[in-house]
Amino acid sequence: MSEFPPNFVFGVATSAYQIEGAVEEDGRGPSIWDVFSHTPGKTARGDTGDVACDHYHRYLDDVQLMKDLGVQSYRFSISWPRIQPEGVGRVNEAGLDFYDRLIDALLEAGIEPMATLYHWDLPQTLQDRGGWTNRDTAKAFADYADVVFARLGGRVPRYITVNEPWCSAVLGHAFGTHAPGLQDFGATVAAAHHLLLGHGLAVEAFRGRNLASQIGITNILTDVLPASSRVEDEEAAARMDVFLNRWFLDPVFQASYPEEIRALGVDGVVQTGDLERISAPLDFVGVNYYQRQYVAANREDPLLRAALLPPRGERTASGWGVEPDGLVRVLQRVTSDYTKLPIYVTESGAAFADVLEEGVIHDDKRTTYLERHLQAVLAASVAGTDVRGYYVWSLLDNFEWAEGYDKRFGLVYVDYDTQVRIPKDSALWFAGVVGSRTFDRED
Ligand code: FCB
Repeated sequence: MSEFPPNFVFGVATSAYQIEGAVEEDGRGPSIWDVFSHTPGKTARGDTGDVACDHYHRYLDDVQLMKDLGVQSYRFSISWPRIQPEGVGRVNEAGLDFYDRLIDALLEAGIEPMATLYHWDLPQTLQDRGGWTNRDTAKAFADYADVVFARLGGRVPRYITVNEPWCSAVLGHAFGTHAPGLQDFGATVAAAHHLLLGHGLAVEAFRGRNLASQIGITNILTDVLPASSRVEDEEAAARMDVFLNRWFLDPVFQASYPEEIRALGVDGVVQTGDLERISAPLDFVGVNYYQRQYVAANREDPLLRAALLPPRGERTASGWGVEPDGLVRVLQRVTSDYTKLPIYVTESGAAFADVLEEGVIHDDKRTTYLERHLQAVLAASVAGTDVRGYYVWSLLDNFEWAEGYDKRFGLVYVDYDTQVRIPKDSALWFAGVVGSRTFDRED
C-alpha cells in the first residue's frame, strides 16, 4: 500500500488551444497555432483547434466532471490572443471574463486553479514581427502577464509563466513541426533566450503586485542515458542532456548558459542583466515528464555528434517508451543539481489506442502507466525530493498539436462529433486514488 503525504495535490492539466475551440468568439485574435494548423500538411489530417473540445462553451460541465472525479487542482492555460488580440496594447475584457468565470466555477467546486500564462498560442500579430525571435516579444509577454495578474490576482494560487520553452523554441523554430514552423537554428537560439527572458520579466511583474500567490516555470525534462558504458556514448549523452535539459535549467537556476549553448551563439542575443532576470527567485518548479532517451555517439550528426536510439520496452501510442524510473531520476536531479524548491509534476500521462465499446473504455494500459508514475513520484519523495503534486495530462482527449485528434491522452474520452464526455476506466481509478490517497501496486 502506498500513501501520499497529506499536502500532496492530485490534479489534471489541459491547455487553451488544445481544448477551448471558439477561436473567433468574443474578440479572440488569431494565434500562431490557428495559422499553423490551417496550413496544409502541418497537422495530421489537417486537424485544427477550431472546435477542439468546445470547452469555451462547456467549461461548467467540465468543472463538474472534475468535481465528480474528486480532482483537487486544475491546471489550464490562458490564451494570450483572447486577452490581447493584437498581442500588445488593447485588452479584450471579454477574454478575461471567460477565465474569471472559469475560476469562479473552480473555486465554487473546491478545485484549486493553476494557470499557465503561455502554452504556445502566441498572437499571430507578434509572429508577424518576428515572434519569439524578436526581443520585444519578451516585454510584450510580461505586459500581458501583468494584465492577467491585475485581473485574476490571488484567486489563482499558482501561476506558471511558460510551459516547456524547449518545445516552443526547438519544435517551433528548429524542427518546424510546431508553430511557427521555422527550421532555422539561429532563430531557435534567439527564441529560446527570449522565452526565458519573457519568463523573467513576467516574474518581475508578478513580484511588483505583491500577490499572495506563487509563481514558477514548467520545463519538460527528459531522462538521458548513454546507450552503453563506452566513453563516446557517455559524452554524447552529456551533450544531448545539455540540449534537452540544461539549456533551460542552467539559466533559470544558475544564471548561466552551458558552454555548448554559448558555442551556438546565444551570447549574441544576451544583454546585460538578462540572466539575473531569468534567474529571479521562484516559488516552485514545474516538471513535465514523458520520456527517457538512450543516446549513442554518432559522428555524422553535425550539431551534437549524437543519435537518439529507439525506446526500449513498452511504448505508448505516441511511440514514447514507458519509463517511470526516469521520472524518479529527473525529480532527484532537479533537487540535487538545481534547487530545493517544491516541485509539481505539472504533466504526466500517455496516449493509448482507446476503444469505445458499449459506452465504456477499458484503458488498463493508461491506468498502469499512471500507477507506475505515481509510484515513481512517491519513490522520489521518499528519496528526499520535495514533490508536492501530480497533474495528469490530460483531463480530456484533445488536440495533440501536429498529431491532431488521433492521439488520445485524456482520462475522459471525448466523442468529437457529439462532444459527449465519457470517463475512461483510468478516470475512475484516478478518482479512487484521489479519494483514498493510497493505491495498491503489484510489483
Ligand atoms: C506536452 C505538452 C502538452 C501535451 C503533451 C502530450 O509536451 O505540454 O500540451 O501536448 O505534451
